[in-house]
Amino acid sequence: MREVTHEATGPVRLDASDIDEEYGDIAVCMCGLSDDRPFCDGSHRATEGEEPGVRYKYEGGERRRVNLLVED
Ligand code: FES
Repeated sequence: MREVTHEATGPVRLDASDIDEEYGDIAVCMCGLSDDRPFCDGSHRATEGEEPGVRYKYEGGERRRVNLLVED
């Protein structure tokens, strides 16, 4: 199992010079929640209300706080 931590709560919008004529405005997911990665699908809205310094886990559309274990 691999867990990846994302701290971003929204996408990166590419410069106008990077925009594809067919796809138009492109936003790249930085929150890790999109089902259409690498593109943003709006799933980052689930991060609204996150508290600074708190780690969360998102599974099955649910958000829960994660308690970190401290190892020696
Ligand atoms: S930034 Fe991840 S879904 Fe929008």
